[in-house]
Amino acid sequence: MSKLLVTGRKKLSGEVSVQGAKNSVLPILSATLLARGETVLYNCPDLSDVEDSVNILRYLGCKAERSGQTLVINTDGFNRCDVPDSLMRKTRGSIIFLGAVLAKTGRAKLSLPGGCEIGLRPIDMHLSALKKLGAEIRERRGCIDCRAPYGLSGAKISLDFPSVGATEQVIIAACLAHGATTLTNAAREPEIADLADFLNSCGARIYGAGEGEILIEGTGSLSGCAHSIIPDRIAAATFMSAAAATGSEIVLTDVIPAHLGAVISAFEDMGCKIKTDGTKLKITAPASLKPLKAVSTMPYPGFPTDAQAPLMAAACVADGTSVFTENIFENRFRHTRELARMGAEIKTCGRVCVVYGRDKLYGAKVDSTDLRGAAALVVAALCAEGKTRIGSLRYLERGYENLELSLSSLGADIKKI
Ligand code: UD1
Repeated sequence: MSKLLVTGRKKLSGEVSVQGAKNSVLPILSATLLARGETVLYNCPDLSDVEDSVNILRYLGCKAERSGQTLVINTDGFNRCDVPDSLMRKTRGSIIFLGAVLAKTGRAKLSLPGGCEIGLRPIDMHLSALKKLGAEIRERRGCIDCRAPYGLSGAKISLDFPSVGATEQVIIAACLAHGATTLTNAAREPEIADLADFLNSCGARIYGAGEGEILIEGTGSLSGCAHSIIPDRIAAATFMSAAAATGSEIVLTDVIPAHLGAVISAFEDMGCKIKTDGTKLKITAPASLKPLKAVSTMPYPGFPTDAQAPLMAAACVADGTSVFTENIFENRFRHTRELARMGAEIKTCGRVCVVYGRDKLYGAKVDSTDLRGAAALVVAALCAEGKTRIGSLRYLERGYENLELSLSSLGADIKKI
């Protein structure tokens, strides 16, 4: 099994391009099922999570071919309504296929999804929203069987919490429904607007995506289109954490700074200087980082839960005590144990984590616990004295395309072994 070997304390410099957003590609891949014919997706990162979703499309009868960052999907052969356990278990994002398969075929038989163990991650909001749209749902022994033989019907749906996945599920399922659907307390993440932009290019009528209330007017049919995936704001936040932890200056290209509001504020609070110019962002870190008084993860536009772990790794070498509160997932501090092996001093109590900044971290053998926890270990290793060996790389590969090559190009001493 591959590992990353990092020799820390090298300054980073230069420019790095940010990959397309994983969390946009996954729902968009399932939404391609709604559209007849060919869809071309540009800026599509080559990640194991993306490959797992592509394999679900292939199982369902679609054709999918990758050439560099471009994925071409043809749904003409789509002829199944079941997804086996072995494919569903690979990612959490696989649950998003439920609404698409159901809306298109009138039936969907899927088993419960897998994914990183960062909390219970129930799907109750997904299921109750689909029921409101008219689906009959039976759950038996880890299998969900949904039926809507006469199609789904528009409804008024309000989410108890602005869940990203449940919002995407409703948008996708309601596109081909009879009549209009209004969704209130919808998630406002940029990836939701990207999904709606894709579907609208296929002929859907979705209004207000990216805001708390979304209107979806059902249409009879959709056709494939060409769409470019937005940049990955979490990959951007990871590079920014690496620059901050190593006291470096780097330029990120291919970013949308407007998507990084809360992230930029956090790095400015640490004393970093941020300059943006169109799709470029320059971060200049001070020699000594200031601690973060209070980072609270929140739904967008709040600070993203996915950026909490990499930012925490930088806070481990800040000049003082930082406090993190995780409000989205209940089990998202597992990386703290591994950071402690590198000399970090962190105390966790429930959803709150107190990080006592240290002058230095030290290289160690550590193991990834989940996708963003793995990114935190990379950030910590880059600023640690000596060599760090990071195991269980499969987590990192779910969400970062060749992270080690991008960091090497910036001057880091990092290689896959
Ligand atoms: C998505 C992202 C993930 C990110 C998260 C929050 C993808 C593929 N993944 O995950 O990277 O960390 O948004 O920004 O886009 N919940 C329920 N019932 C439900 C659905 C969710 O209780 O039916 C809870 C979850 O357990 C969690 C909270 O709601 O505590 C937020 O989850 P949600 O926004 O749905 O996250 P995901 O869509 O799974």
